[in-house]
Amino acid sequence: MKNLLSEPAQPDHASVAAQLRHTLHAHAHRYYVLDDPSVPDAEYDRLFQALQAIEAQHPELVTPDSPTQRVGGRALDAFTSVRHAVPMLSIRTETDTQATGAQNFDARVRRELGLDDSAPPVDYVAEPKFDGLAMSLRYERGVLVQAATRGDGEMGEDVTQNIRTIGQIPLRLPASAPDVLEVRGEVYMRRDDFEALNEKQRERGQKTFVNTRNAAAGAVRQLDPAIAAQRPLSFFAYGLGEITPPEASGPVFATHFEMLKTLESWGFPVSSLVKVAQGATELIAYYQAVGQQRDSLGFDIDGVVYKVNSLALQRRMGFLTREPRWAVAHKFPAQEQFTTVLGIDVQVGRTGKLTPVARLKPVFVGGVTVTNATLHNLFELRRKRVRVGDTAIVRRAGDVIPEVVGIVQTLRPHYVPNFLMPRQCPICGSAVVREKLEVNHRCTGGLFCAAQRKQAVLHFAQRRAVEIEGFGEKLVDQLIDRNVVKVLPDLYRLGLRAQAELQSLTLDALAEKLTDEEKAALAKETLIALDRMATVSAQKVLDAIEKSKHTTLPRFLFGLGIRHVGEATAKELARHFGQLDAIMDATVEQLLEVSDVGPIVALSLRTFFDQAHNREVVEQLRACGVTWQEGPPAPVAPKPLTGKTFVITGTLPTLGRDEAKDLIEAAGGKVAGSVSKKTTFVVAGAEAGSKLDKAQALGIAVLDEAGLKELLNEHS
Ligand code: IVH
Repeated sequence: MKNLLSEPAQPDHASVAAQLRHTLHAHAHRYYVLDDPSVPDAEYDRLFQALQAIEAQHPELVTPDSPTQRVGGRALDAFTSVRHAVPMLSIRTETDTQATGAQNFDARVRRELGLDDSAPPVDYVAEPKFDGLAMSLRYERGVLVQAATRGDGEMGEDVTQNIRTIGQIPLRLPASAPDVLEVRGEVYMRRDDFEALNEKQRERGQKTFVNTRNAAAGAVRQLDPAIAAQRPLSFFAYGLGEITPPEASGPVFATHFEMLKTLESWGFPVSSLVKVAQGATELIAYYQAVGQQRDSLGFDIDGVVYKVNSLALQRRMGFLTREPRWAVAHKFPAQEQFTTVLGIDVQVGRTGKLTPVARLKPVFVGGVTVTNATLHNLFELRRKRVRVGDTAIVRRAGDVIPEVVGIVQTLRPHYVPNFLMPRQCPICGSAVVREKLEVNHRCTGGLFCAAQRKQAVLHFAQRRAVEIEGFGEKLVDQLIDRNVVKVLPDLYRLGLRAQAELQSLTLDALAEKLTDEEKAALAKETLIALDRMATVSAQKVLDAIEKSKHTTLPRFLFGLGIRHVGEATAKELARHFGQLDAIMDATVEQLLEVSDVGPIVALSLRTFFDQAHNREVVEQLRACGVTWQEGPPAPVAPKPLTGKTFVITGTLPTLGRDEAKDLIEAAGGKVAGSVSKKTTFVVAGAEAGSKLDKAQALGIAVLDEAGLKELLNEHS
């Protein structure tokens, strides 16, 4: 006979495992559904690993509802078909995006229920129409046993393995749940998860998804659950399938809303946007309120769904073919449409940025007719593989400018050459450049380019440049829109016509502040007084322009708006060269001698002054009487790192290799590719290889990033 007392107490593995499962389910619900974690992630991991360890030793203790079963399982060849115990219905769609969409539904419900005008409003539940895919989750004795897609409504596909990976979906229900329960709802992908997934796909050079619905559908239908697990999905419950015992001892719901609240209490996510609404008025209000929030939600919706709240009334109304008569989907204007790319144009923005824009066959999307959609930049265009003639998916969400989301590659009609960025600005013909590490192409025309005129004039007139007092954005807009100013020198050629224009502008501005009644009530004398005021302020502007003619070289140079030439650089250039002509004619090498000027700045100056039209503007400004004092060139102080050669190896903690190179070169140093006796310093980062070894062998000084920064600071 066994001596029980002499044996060490056997831990009851089965009950420990059950306890761990229970605790993990509770934590998972707080974390995934309520978004309110109850324990730190590390604690969850610890419990999870404890359960995994027990299950590894005692495989017979693994249950299908164990949290360890969320991931795992082998890749399938195909999904098996399953018959839905209760068919998955579809829903009638109301495409009329006006209030009448809701009114029609309410009128129909009232008619079918035989309610006359004196009867009180019908009780409805209004819900978002989630833009994912319908799923039926079957629980037997509280355990998730099957997840199936809708399929044709009768037969779906068994996607249980993948659905288990969704943290928001409970694997086990509380004891109060019915014996058999089928919960229906929408599997979807949150927008942030979608963005992150696409980012990951891009990094790996894999295909990106055009929208959250496609991404969710792809994840659900992924045969390898390990891949599915890497595509985070979410879930909202919105209905029921089979339920036993339906009425007897189990929960009895009187309304749809009550049913949703019960599902919520059993651990299912139910959208907080679900609301009870009375009659058509409240349905319309709901449609509008949710429509306004649409763009700021964390997930995509394509409309709202109205359902008769009373389950008794739902039963009374029944079905028509495969659609319930008690529900309708009221769509929002589509945010995505297909259309044809007729051409690819290039637009030049106020700052000179060139944006490729798809010219489209007009299409109604997001509530407006769209004829153009941005492609952002050349890299985005290439990534999306857009070519003329393609069928494109165009998206317009809220106030966001329309964009091309992607194209349907299989519908490309014939070979079309790839789009190339123009080398000359389509507006002014100036050179187009893209600096390294930059994604945007830019026109270098600056003050010469019509697209950049307003910006250029404002920049030139600002306080820190030549300073024209009272020259605000509004005035500049009007002067340019009325063609009074076309190029910068026009500012100094404002003759009589301009005076009249300025006067009328000021009058307009004064009049704008008055209401029509006030204007009508104005005495003739007042009008004359106003006119005099306008004359005075017009004269003020002209005086300010005159005053700005006397400036300094740094202010003038800064005012030209040459890219990368800020106030400090302009001062250094002026100090170094003394004269504008010397700056305009300096070679890149000479420019590099100026402290604070690196290769990017030098090249930008050179590109600017190499263009005849820019020099012409400068000449005209001088001819108009813009003057400043010029000085002799300052003696050239050698740059701190002149004569020193650097080699960069490995990965630096914060600086990119190009950035480090620019900094060294700006300080006069040289950067070489390989270590030799001529090397002064080796700058080494993480995973530095043979170059570091060689430096050490040759006894060359080695710096880390901090050391390099110190060296640069010492001398600045
Ligand atoms: S109820 C008996 N509610 O819309 C009515 N469907 O049905 C069954 N959908 O693909 C559907 N949000 O996946 C219902 N709040 C919601 C919904 C919703 C999205 C989808 C559902 C189905 C389609 C048409």
